[in-house]
Amino acid sequence: MYYSDDVIEEVRSRNDIVDVISGYVKLQRKGSSYFGLCPFHSEKSPSFSVSRDKQMYYCFGCGAGGNVLSFIMEYENFSFPEALKMLADRAGMALPEPEYSAEARRQRDLKESVREINKMAANYFYYMLRSPQGERALQYLMNRGLTEGTIKRFGLGYAGQYSDALYKYLKGKGISDQLLRESGLMQVNEKHGMYDKFWNRVMFPILDVNNKVIGFGGRVMGDGKPKYLNSPETVIFDKSRNLYGLNYARTAKKRYMLVCEGYMDVISMHQAGFTNAVASLGTALTSQHATLLKRYTDEVILTYDSDEAGVRAALRAIPLLKEAGISTKVLHMEPYKDPDEFIKALGTEAFQERIDRAENSFLFEVSVLQKSYDMKDPDSKTRFFQEVAAKIAGLELEIERENYIEAITGRYQISFEGLRRMVMNVLMQGVPARKAPVARQQARPEKDDGIRRSQRLILTWITEYPQLFDTISRYIHPQDFSDELYREVAAMLYAQKEKGAVNPAQIISHFADSEQQRTVAQLFNTEVKLESPKEMEKAVQETIYKVAEQVIAQKSRELDPTDMKGLQELVDAKKRLPEIRRLHISL
Ligand code: GTP
Ligand code: MN
Repeated sequence: MYYSDDVIEEVRSRNDIVDVISGYVKLQRKGSSYFGLCPFHSEKSPSFSVSRDKQMYYCFGCGAGGNVLSFIMEYENFSFPEALKMLADRAGMALPEPEYSAEARRQRDLKESVREINKMAANYFYYMLRSPQGERALQYLMNRGLTEGTIKRFGLGYAGQYSDALYKYLKGKGISDQLLRESGLMQVNEKHGMYDKFWNRVMFPILDVNNKVIGFGGRVMGDGKPKYLNSPETVIFDKSRNLYGLNYARTAKKRYMLVCEGYMDVISMHQAGFTNAVASLGTALTSQHATLLKRYTDEVILTYDSDEAGVRAALRAIPLLKEAGISTKVLHMEPYKDPDEFIKALGTEAFQERIDRAENSFLFEVSVLQKSYDMKDPDSKTRFFQEVAAKIAGLELEIERENYIEAITGRYQISFEGLRRMVMNVLMQGVPARKAPVARQQARPEKDDGIRRSQRLILTWITEYPQLFDTISRYIHPQDFSDELYREVAAMLYAQKEKGAVNPAQIISHFADSEQQRTVAQLFNTEVKLESPKEMEKAVQETIYKVAEQVIAQKSRELDPTDMKGLQELVDAKKRLPEIRRLHISL
């Protein structure tokens, strides 16, 4: 951060969040908050809330949240300084010269420079494609069915015939070798020194969600090897956190996203009107990708290649997506290899039909499994159904299990009762830990168990009912919270309260990362649905008790048995627990 906290806070406090967001979203007052349709995901009934008291927004549907600065960054695709500038202008404030700490400045300058170099390179490639040297490349793209509009929209380019063209160009702009080394655009070896990584290739710039160029893919025109070269990871390019095409797909406002393998697939699909298509960047889908996708959608349709590698990639992606809370379907491309070829051969409507008929991911997994069994051999067939039964037994809800038993009976030769009995048997015996429903129930809470929720409630209540602070802080201290981020936020909130009034929106400004800003917004926007103030008061009391009790349990597990002082503190804390039950809480 390179403006002082005071400056940021002044800009923030001079832009009332309800006023600002009203300029973008139609808001309606409901109790102490305002509600509207979330601009960050597609929805029919409003779950996007804006609070004037907290000066924060939060979407109960997709989890987007933050303060007025985060809103402008997210909505306008602005960087932090851009958002700050816009809001300062809006409030009629002049921003002072930014301040830099040495390290922050170095990192910022490095990222800024690498971003700048990648942008220059993109412009250069773009220009080269339209130069006489680029004729063949342009022809190649046209031959692959891309229109001029598409080529422009995706900023496609050509890297030039010679392996030092970009190097010379960037040197001519005064860029140092050291920065060029960080840019991911150069190769270095002893014999040749520094030279271009990409030459004589068609270039696909990779943009982040803020439309900034962060890297490139380059394809040979024809059959050379390697077919694609990709930028290495740099200070601005993290392959597991970016998806090709997401900058457009995020605004497609479709119920689902199409996830495919390649640059050309994304581009073809977009050209055919499927603007909700993205691809992971020459790597397998990661859990970070899944989390990123979850921000924009609840459903993914995998449109991986129809070959064996594509099937393997789908099998790996399905559980990661599920873990992130995304339900997945698998699109069948046969007899074509990938979306690009399919659309070229059969057209848009046929592709839409395949989307509509995409297979449920569980049934897809079962059908892949089936291929490794010989269904004509009774033993093999039995083993297949045993596997399937174990898989069904791993599902959490009975209704889910029943529905899948029914679906499987419709597809394979087994009776409903027969399969149901096998599933029951698995459930009775207990299944391998990984698949057991019990184990799953334990696995999930690790991420977001009741305790974390209770801790979030505590933080939310402190901001909503500051009169509770004295009571709460007697039993729960900032260091008692489970996560690093929770502890940091609690420490700031407690410090604010001790000095005067809470200011949750200011706390958000301390976090530069938008992922963290969301989490902080969630910390201050956790709700319980309760009818009466009486119920509410009871909930507060129980929550304080629960968190305090858990802290003691945690501490006694970790206590060094020779730590007498620690032991004494624990005993004291335990003695005070019943006090909480007798607290008089009044809201
Ligand atoms: P086209 O042949 O141009 O239609 O490409 P495609 O998108 O169908 O490519 P393919 O399915 O072969 O590969 C999917 C993705 O994997 C590409 O978009 C690249 O990101 C990556 N990829 C493919 N080939 C290579 C390669 O040789 N090296 C590297 N590093 N990545 C590759
Ligand atoms: Mn292809």
